[in-house]
Amino acid sequence: MCKILLTGGAGFIGSHTAVSLSANGYEVVILDNLVNSRADVIDNIEKITGVEIPFYIGDCRDEKLLEKIFTENEIDTVIHFAGLKAVGESCEKPLEYYGNNLDATISLLKMMLKHNVYKLVFSSSATVYDADNPSERVEGMRLGCTNPYGWTKYMCEQIIRDTCRANKQLRAISLRYFNPVGAHKSYLIGENPKGIPNNLVPYIQQVAIGQREYVHVYGDDYNTVDGTGVRDYIHVCDLADAHVAAAKYLAEHEGCMEINIGTGKGTSVLEMIHSFEKANNVKIPYRIEARRAGDVDSVYANTQKAYELLHWKAHLTIEDMCRDAYNWQCHLQKQ
Ligand code: NAD
Ligand code: UFG
Repeated sequence: MCKILLTGGAGFIGSHTAVSLSANGYEVVILDNLVNSRADVIDNIEKITGVEIPFYIGDCRDEKLLEKIFTENEIDTVIHFAGLKAVGESCEKPLEYYGNNLDATISLLKMMLKHNVYKLVFSSSATVYDADNPSERVEGMRLGCTNPYGWTKYMCEQIIRDTCRANKQLRAISLRYFNPVGAHKSYLIGENPKGIPNNLVPYIQQVAIGQREYVHVYGDDYNTVDGTGVRDYIHVCDLADAHVAAAKYLAEHEGCMEINIGTGKGTSVLEMIHSFEKANNVKIPYRIEARRAGDVDSVYANTQKAYELLHWKAHLTIEDMCRDAYNWQCHLQKQ
């Protein structure tokens, strides 16, 4: 059986990917330092899959620990989720973000080459596209970022491309995620942000259960369908399946590439709020406020490359995302 190491596998996207990989017959090993997750996530992955998951608590920059993991397990492929991801925090603590995200990627690549592990899937982001591009982002478009977090993704993509160029055996796919939301239908795993959520859907979830009073809608004067910002929301279970497709692709093809992972459809903030109300029969109060610094009007994925190369496309709807996000939040509240 093919063994896949998930760095950051206790996190939101990593935990869902562990479940999808296991359902597709892969063995999973997880490394996570738990800076933004909890150890009980591993128990819940095990509950869902019925499989015991080897779990190493530690830092991806710790080369001794990586050495141990690669020695104890015959790793075939690595999926590298480990990273810090809060845009605002990255502006306040740039060195922490560059240090963590770049060093983790470099240590991992070094150790992969040392142990003859030649397949890598990297968690990149739609944020690497220059904001002035047309709304529908296509892989070849101009890149450029507006915050240190985004630059770490941009630089890691470059580090991976350069390492592939120098080591022809290495194969890599950087998946550029759009806006992952929702939760697994068992409601045992999902996103559990610390403090006040920065992102729209986790914020709506907390308003829905009365934990917060109303949604702050950041601007209604954008050039969009109703003036509010448009994004490409993707169900985290669809996103998890894209990693399975990427792992399969790497087993059969050489190369180094970047692939968008989104639905190809844009949804505005107000459309999301109304869909959430309808899907869950709840009221979501909101207030229109000033634009948030750094936001753009509309971003969604061109999904052709994902479909052509990975034979993957998203299936779950905005309604599925809203329902699963709400049920997960209700489950969290009961804990
Ligand atoms: P998350 O914070 O839930 O998961 C990341 C995990 O990595 C956490 O469990 C954290 O504890 C761990 N981690 C961080 N630094 C580490 C280190 N040095 N060593 C070991 N573990 C470490 O985030 P997520 O939403 O699951 O995102 C996963 C990846 O996808 C991240 O790289 C993120 O930047 C990227 N991404 C996320 C989004 C999003 O909106 N969620 C969008 C685009 C890209
Ligand atoms: N928004 C609100 N109110 C909120 C939060 C967000 O109106 O409380 C609006 C934003 O202005 C934007 C939309 O909702 O128009 C989506 O905002 P998010 O913060 O949920 O998502 P972003 O597209 O800004 O960014 C997210 C991640 C980034 C990642 C990017 C692309 O935070 O790290 O998706 O994947 F890079």
